[in-house]
Parts: sequence; structure tokens; C-alpha cells
Amino acid sequence: MLIRLLRTYLQPYARWLVALVVLQLLGTIASLYLPALNADVIDYGVVRGDTAYILRTGGWMLLMTVGQIACSMAAAYFGARISMSFGRDLRGALFRRVMGFSGREVARFGAPSLITRNTNDVQQVQMLVAVSGTMMIGAPVTGIGAIIMAVREDPGLSWLMGICVPVLAIVVGSVAWRMVPQFRLMQTFTDRVNRILREQIGGIRVVRAFVREPDETRRFATANADLTDTALQAGRLMALLLPAIVLILNASSAAVLWVGALRISAGQTQIGDLTAFLVYLAQILLAVMMATFMLMMVPRAAVSADRIGEVLATESSVALPREPVRAVAAHAQAELRRVTFRYPGAADPVLRDISLRVGAGETLAVIGSTGAGKTTLLSLIPRLLDPTEGAVLVDGVDVRRLDPELLWTRIGLVPQRPYLFSGTVASNLRFGDPGATDESLWQALEVAQARDFVEELAGGLEARVSQGGTNLSGGQRQRLAIARALLRRPEIYLFDDSFSALDLGTEARLRTALRPVTRESAVIIVTQRVASIRNADQIAVLDGGALVGLGRHHELLDTCPTYAEIVASQLTAEEAA
Ligand code: UTP
Ligand code: MG
Repeated sequence: MLIRLLRTYLQPYARWLVALVVLQLLGTIASLYLPALNADVIDYGVVRGDTAYILRTGGWMLLMTVGQIACSMAAAYFGARISMSFGRDLRGALFRRVMGFSGREVARFGAPSLITRNTNDVQQVQMLVAVSGTMMIGAPVTGIGAIIMAVREDPGLSWLMGICVPVLAIVVGSVAWRMVPQFRLMQTFTDRVNRILREQIGGIRVVRAFVREPDETRRFATANADLTDTALQAGRLMALLLPAIVLILNASSAAVLWVGALRISAGQTQIGDLTAFLVYLAQILLAVMMATFMLMMVPRAAVSADRIGEVLATESSVALPREPVRAVAAHAQAELRRVTFRYPGAADPVLRDISLRVGAGETLAVIGSTGAGKTTLLSLIPRLLDPTEGAVLVDGVDVRRLDPELLWTRIGLVPQRPYLFSGTVASNLRFGDPGATDESLWQALEVAQARDFVEELAGGLEARVSQGGTNLSGGQRQRLAIARALLRRPEIYLFDDSFSALDLGTEARLRTALRPVTRESAVIIVTQRVASIRNADQIAVLDGGALVGLGRHHELLDTCPTYAEIVASQLTAEEAA
């Protein structure tokens, strides 16, 4: 998965990658050549007292250093650019994918996990790209190059490398190996801390009201401690690594100096060669270390890549039509044909064999107790969910074949829990119609019985709305959501319990005001209040997912016991008559 991800999302930057490789190669060659020049300065310049030679070679060395610095800087620039662009593209792809998800897929991953995947996980992979960008070429080239150069300087000392390099590789490798499972755990724990935090911030009022703070604090503390412990364990291992590396580095230097000194006094080696050899040894060990570090990042990035890939590979269960229908003959019609719906994983269907039909100028009311499946039924029409069996038709065409844009412009949905976005009253209303004038905003507010309270808000239309609309009351939110749907001028209105937070007087005024606006449209009203729907053209009574009654108020009173029961529980006898 990691490789696939890298290949796909690094492709656009192939040219930069080539530049990066060339720059790193140049820089590495320069740094490899420097110790050899240094050795020459000592052996031919210092020992023989040839100042001109020292100055000439020194000049070369200076030039080379400058070149190397330039290469490294440019490489770092390209590396950063590539990894950042990579991260941006990947996040974008994830975001687009998630936006296409229906409620079913979001529920499968959970919102917090989706957020972690789009931030932290992408960052892990991005970091691997950044680090590889600076080391991937440098480490192996330095390692191999330094070995060749060192052997060239003094073959007699080279057997020492045969000892220090494997020792270092084993030590660093075994530490790295033990860190991998910790990294895997860390990703899961990060997910959990995120989830708990989100849940608690979202439900803070409930937590307070039920005095659950100590429990919730404990729950968070546990998750937090788990993450900390794992990170600490990984950190401890990491802390062990540096002293171990320094120890090996210095021990090998001492060994080289010892053996080298013996060889120099025997006349087998020159002083300059020994200095160069020492530098090469350090370079080799450094390269081994960098390579191991990089390899260590791979498993962590691989875990993250899997998590990202999982999201990218998930198709929305509400698939887009291959050849969408863009033109429809009929208008303002919604129909359910023998629809059955089952939530994934649920044993029983929530809706069973339901057939309903509402046309232009008609009002269909759906009534039923909590959990009867009313919201589920409404979600089928804008394709927030697709039916398990049967078909949903809008304007005479199966919604699965309709162009989604066309479908959604025809529907004005007021959800049961109206969601407002952070911004202003106006920016929220313009979700319904981006080009609406202030005047039409006020008109919609007037119909939705929201004019009075918006006028009283500081700033009126420009009054600030916080995320989720939490700075407004439930009823105010509902009325803004209604106004938002009205601005759309849809053919089909779906009101999901949209008057529940309004007092009866306000509701009656709202319904009267709605009547002329919705004259040409089909209206479906979901409610629990009989008073709201007595005049509806049709009333559908849902009970446990089945349609147990369909007709007008008076017919149902006689024919549908469930309806009669609901009415009896809400109205006094004379009102019902
Ligand atoms: P609904 O959400 O359709 O019920 O859930 P409703 O009629 O609108 O209820 P109120 O009046 O707003 O309270 C119907 C059934 O579907 C299940 C629920 O358990 C409920 O019994 N359900 C709902 C799921 O299994 N998964 C979901 O995501 C939503
Ligand atoms: Mg509902």
C-alpha cells in the first residue's frame, strides 16, 4: 500500500525528484572527495613543507565545500517542496473521497478516525518522503563511496570496517526492530485520544448535567496515559540509540588509531591516509545510522499508508450513475415503490415494503412513534441512503439513475437536527441559493417566522453563527434551516420534524405562510404531532417500519387503530372529532 501510495502521489513530481537525486549525488561526491584532498595536503603539503601546494589544494577544498553546501541546500529545498506537495495532494484526495461518502461509510470509520487519517497519518507518510528526500540517495552512496575511498587510502586498515559496520548495523537494527510495534500502537492510541476528546467536547453539557466529569476525566486520562506510555517507551529506546552509536563510533576510531599508529611506525601508512580513513569511517557509520533510521520510519509510515489506503479504497455505497438522466418529464413528484431498507449489520429491516406517492401541490404527512423509521424514509429521497429493495422515484425517474446535481437542486431538506455552519446568518442561508439578495433572504426568513429574532440579533443578517449553530436556540436553528431550504425553491420539500421545537402558535403561523410558497411543490412532513397534519392530503402512519395506514385524517380515525391511538393520546375527544 505504501509503495502504491508513493507511486501514485509522487508521480506529478517526478522531475523534481530527478533534480533531487542529481543534487544529492553531487553533494555526496563532493563530501567524499574532501577527506582525500585533506590527506594529500598533509602527506604532500605539510610533511614536505610545500606551502604553494597547501594553498592550491586548500582552495580546491574550499570551492568544493561551497559547492557541496549549495547542493545540500537546494536538495533540502526540493525535498521539502516534494514532501509538502505530496501531503497536500494526499489530503486533498482523502477529503474528496470522504465528501463522497454516505452516512453508512462515515459511520463505519467514525468521524474522529477519518480526521486522524487525514491529518496525522498523512503526516507520517509525508515525513517519510521528506526524510527519504534528504537521505535516500545520500546514505547508500556515502556508505559505499566511503568504503571504496577508505580501501583506496589504506587497504591494510580496511578489515577494521568489517567489524564496526556490522556491529553498528546490528545494534541500531535491533533497537529499531523493537520500536516498530510501539509505532503501530501509537497510531491506534492517537485515534482513541482523538475520539474521546471529540466526544467529550461535543457532549460537554450532558457530561456536566449528569455530573460525569470525574468518570470522563478518568476515561480521557487512561487513553492519554496509554499514548504517553507507548511514546515514552519508544522514546527510551531512541534515547538508548545515540549513546550506543557514539560509543561504537569512538571505539572504532580508537581501534583505527591504534592499528594505524602501528602501521605508520612500520612505514606501511602515511599520516594523511590515516586521517582520511578516520573521516571515511565516521561517514560510513553515519550512513549506516541514517539508513537504519529511515528504514525504521518505513513501518510506521506503512501502518499509516494502510489506514489511508483503506479510506481511499472505500467506494461510497451511494454510487453515482454511469449514464445519469439529465432531463425529466414530470415535475414535483416523489414516489416510493415497495421500498425495504435495512441498515448494514442490522437483523431486521427498518422499513418494510413501503409504497407512497406525492405529487405537485400535495402534502404528505408521515407520522409514527420514535424509531418508527421516519428519518430513514426521508433520507432515501435525496439518496443519503439507497433502499435495499424497491425503488425511489423523483419526477418519475429512479433516483439511482438521476444526475445527483439535478436531484439535489430539486429537493429542499430540513433535517431533524438542523446543522448550521460557522459564519453568519446570511452565509448559512445562502447555502440554499448562493446568489440570493438580502431582500429574498428576508422574505424567506419572514415565511420561516424567523424575521423577528434575526432582526433582534446584533448584526441582523450578518450576525455570527458558531459551528453547528450552537449559539442559537433549537427553535431558532430549525427556523433558519427552514429558511435555507425555502431559498432553494425546490420542487420537493422534506421537513423532518422541523416544527418540533416551535410552540403551537408559531407553528400554525409558519404553516399558513408556507402554503402559498409550496403551492406548486410536493411536501413531505414528518412529525409526531397530529395537530400539524390534520389538513394534509395524505397521512402515512408508520409503525415498526411498516406502513399501517394511509389516507386523510378522518378516514384514518376509523380505519387505522394505530392512528386513532396516537390521536387519542394527543387530543381531547372533541378536538379529534
Ligand atoms: P429513524 O431515525 O428513521 O427513526 O430510525 P425516526 O422515526 O426518525 O425516529 P424519531 O421520531 O426521529 O425519534 C429508525 C430505526 O432505525 C435504526 C434505529 O435504531 C431506529 O430504530 N437506525 C437508525 C439504525 O439502525 N442506524 C442508523 O444509522 C439510524
Ligand atoms: Mg427522526
